[in-house]
Amino acid sequence: MENFIAGLPKLELHLHIEGTLEPELMFALGQRNGVTLPWPDVGSLRAAYEFDCLQSFLDLYYLGTSVLVTEQDFFDLTWAYLERCVADHVVHAEIFFDPQAHTARGVPFATVLGGIERALREGERAHGISWRLIMSFLRHLSEEAAFATLEEARPHLPRIHGIGLDSSELGNPPAKFARVFAAARALGLPAVAHAGEEGPAQCIWQTIEELQVKRIDHGVRCAEDPALVSYLADTRLPLTVCPLSNVRLKVFDEMAHHNVLALLEQGLCVTINSDDPAYFGGYMGDNFRALAQELGASREQLCRLSLNAVEASWLGFADKARLTQEIRGYGACHGVALY
Ligand code: HPA
Ligand code: ZN
Repeated sequence: MENFIAGLPKLELHLHIEGTLEPELMFALGQRNGVTLPWPDVGSLRAAYEFDCLQSFLDLYYLGTSVLVTEQDFFDLTWAYLERCVADHVVHAEIFFDPQAHTARGVPFATVLGGIERALREGERAHGISWRLIMSFLRHLSEEAAFATLEEARPHLPRIHGIGLDSSELGNPPAKFARVFAAARALGLPAVAHAGEEGPAQCIWQTIEELQVKRIDHGVRCAEDPALVSYLADTRLPLTVCPLSNVRLKVFDEMAHHNVLALLEQGLCVTINSDDPAYFGGYMGDNFRALAQELGASREQLCRLSLNAVEASWLGFADKARLTQEIRGYGACHGVALY
């Protein structure tokens, strides 16, 4: 199974680039930029990675971003992630970035975008990893701040493939951002949004109706509403599920209780993703291995999860056809019969 997972082509659709900041790089960049962190060393920082909810993680996540200052910092961050993609055979990545976490500290929008994009282009050239970039709004900030960020992004829009919504779900309902999402839609930007991670199924319905999203990020709490599960199965509106993240943030108390395979078997377009791998104990390969080892996922189920990611991605038709064939061929080589 280890070898099967290692070689399976994977697509990642829910990844916060700031959440790939490993403690070693955080300290190295802090030193490079003269930013002092509130931990004496890597070991004590790692020891702080004990989260009891989404907010306890977010507090640490935003603190970590303070070391990211120059274009080269954003390049180094993204390049380190792409090296993990190579190791895990991730062939396509759709990546969130949180411009407001940086512009609020005086880092120009162009610096953030420039460094990330330069690494992605180089990764595509050197390793053939295709990509999309999704600008995420921080939902704990105001609608006005989101509009200002959309305005700031305007000159760069040809380089941004869509918008997202992340940060604290509870107390920040999708309605708060309905007008910003409508404005982005008018500019031709497709949307995704986090929903149903800590918030109930009702938040997922509201996100679908008010933000007109192409995918739901997380969405695992849909299981509490049978009508919503039926809707998601019928429409194949994808959920980008993040198993290790969900266990770390106590959305599920243990991996054995995760519902992603149950949702898969009910016909939903669920996909596997790593969310903030530096903080949650693993990248794509680790998430797939956890499903096999702790949930008993079969090879056939893992293939279907990868095929779902092709379907849910924003790749063009030709690339989707090529990757579908590649995954089916890989499965067939390993005795997996896909319908
Ligand atoms: N949920 C919400 N906001 C986030 C996350 C997450 O898992 N990661 C980074 N911002
Ligand atoms: Zn996320």
